[in-house]
Amino acid sequence: MNPVYEKLIKCYESCRTSIHFTPKVALVLGSGLGDYGNDIQVEATLDYHDIEGFPVSTVPGHKGRFIFGYVKDVPVVCMQGRVHYYEGYDMSDVVLPVRLMKKMGAEILFLTNAAGGIQLGMQAGDFMLIQDQIASFVPSPLRGENIDELGVRFPDMSRIYDERLQQIVKRAAAKLEIDLKAGTYLQLSGPQYETPREVAMCRLLGADAVGMSTACEAIAARHMGMRVVGISCISNLASGISPTPLSHKEVQEAADLVAPKFKALVTEAISCF
Ligand code: HPA
Repeated sequence: MNPVYEKLIKCYESCRTSIHFTPKVALVLGSGLGDYGNDIQVEATLDYHDIEGFPVSTVPGHKGRFIFGYVKDVPVVCMQGRVHYYEGYDMSDVVLPVRLMKKMGAEILFLTNAAGGIQLGMQAGDFMLIQDQIASFVPSPLRGENIDELGVRFPDMSRIYDERLQQIVKRAAAKLEIDLKAGTYLQLSGPQYETPREVAMCRLLGADAVGMSTACEAIAARHMGMRVVGISCISNLASGISPTPLSHKEVQEAADLVAPKFKALVTEAISCF
């Protein structure tokens, strides 16, 4: 068996011994949404450490567990803490949790992150609906022998972010009177923040926000036929646009500041999925 698939199946078997819950939505919590678990009617939790072979995050402030429960009436599995490529994992490990949540039954992947704002007129604290992405600067999670059990060799990515789910998020934002920007997310490998010229390059390529996650997860999810939706919290203006140097602490603090709004938006959207 393909070793990547074998590892996935092992993790799945390990989860199945303790968890008997079928989620509809898989929610990945980025910076600022770390304590979204408090907004969920929790049925069960599962520490990543307790899953055999599961990649565990090393970033401070990123907890590592799955939360199973209900947002309104919708069954969700929530990743509290994701794994980043810059931590040193293979891309196949970075997307293993997404694949695992699909195996658990999730049909929709809801991705959230903190990102640097590039689009003109953006401000720290804004939210951006992800309409498309650029993942060309990081290795594809689908590199290597195709896992036919998950999807086809050459999957279409022309509508990577689901149109209908985007409409639902837009309506949710309008209902809550939250100004929602929209645009293209570009993933770089990090962990260093960009130089001003790198940000200028990203803008030239059509990016509206830049970050170090998400795009690879969206690819793995579409490969498996999941419907994908994503929102970036613009925690800062990107390098060269921001007048001050960037620090992880400030990025985290800015994301925390708008977390209540972000949580409300996510909850309202999920309740309409
Ligand atoms: N660049 C990359 N990743 C980020 C940023 C940024 O400016 N802000 C939050 N995550």
